[in-house]
Amino acid sequence: MLFNSSLKKLCSFALILVAFISCQEPKIEQLVYKGSDKEAIISNILNRRAIRKYTLEQVGIEKIDTIMRSAIYAPSALNKQPWEIRVVQNPTILEEFNKRFMAFAQGKEFQGSAANYKRPGFSIFHSAPTVIVIASDKSNPNAKMDVGIALQNILLSADALGLGTCPLGTLVPILNLPENQDLLKLLNIPEGYEVAINVALGYPNESPTAPIRYSDKVKIIQ
Ligand SMILES: Cc1cc2nc3c(=O)[nH]c(=O)nc-3n(C[C@H](O)[C@H](O)[C@H](O)COP(=O)(O)O)c2cc1C
Repeated sequence: MLFNSSLKKLCSFALILVAFISCQEPKIEQLVYKGSDKEAIISNILNRRAIRKYTLEQVGIEKIDTIMRSAIYAPSALNKQPWEIRVVQNPTILEEFNKRFMAFAQGKEFQGSAANYKRPGFSIFHSAPTVIVIASDKSNPNAKMDVGIALQNILLSADALGLGTCPLGTLVPILNLPENQDLLKLLNIPEGYEVAINVALGYPNESPTAPIRYSDKVKIIQ
């Protein structure tokens, strides 16, 4: 009898403790894929996040080489490979990207992280130590699609190597402005090409959770 009532008390205490802990911890969706090595790409796709905080550590040439190899092994229509890719690690040029953005931004409103441009220390590339510029062939009607696939290869291969990335669409129209063509010349972007996307790259200094995805945008019709 005594044993039964102690056990009841213990069970109630355990239940209260579990309820308390589950109230404290917000439930975060864990995207875990338990498949074979070949299927690990699915986990990689589900868990890659846009990273907006980086450590100061620079990305070494071996990792850059693997990421660039992954980029150029992307499929492209008629295998035209209509891209020019520049991996920028020069701090002066990176700072220049920020200066050109700031010159353009004055008096304008932006959505997303660029909305914070008036804050001290703001960086349009999230202070990443490396920025990748991908330009696309203006004469190729499939170029933007092909660049999109190369971009995803960059994001996923970087993630697989323990690196963080963030696509940077905000900088694209600014780099393509006539007054910023000198910067594209400096990067040796050929005539007939325009900037299609930029990517911040570095070691992540945050682990954001996945923003919501809308599964109702997918319909299976049988
Ligand atoms: C084409 C493109 C442009 C983007 N431009 C920016 C940008 O300029 N700045 C930024 O912080 N994030 C940018 N992002 C990142 C998105 O905001 C992010 O991918 C989206 O919110 C989903 O989050 P997730 O990548 O963590 O899944 C861009 C993403 C894409 C695909």
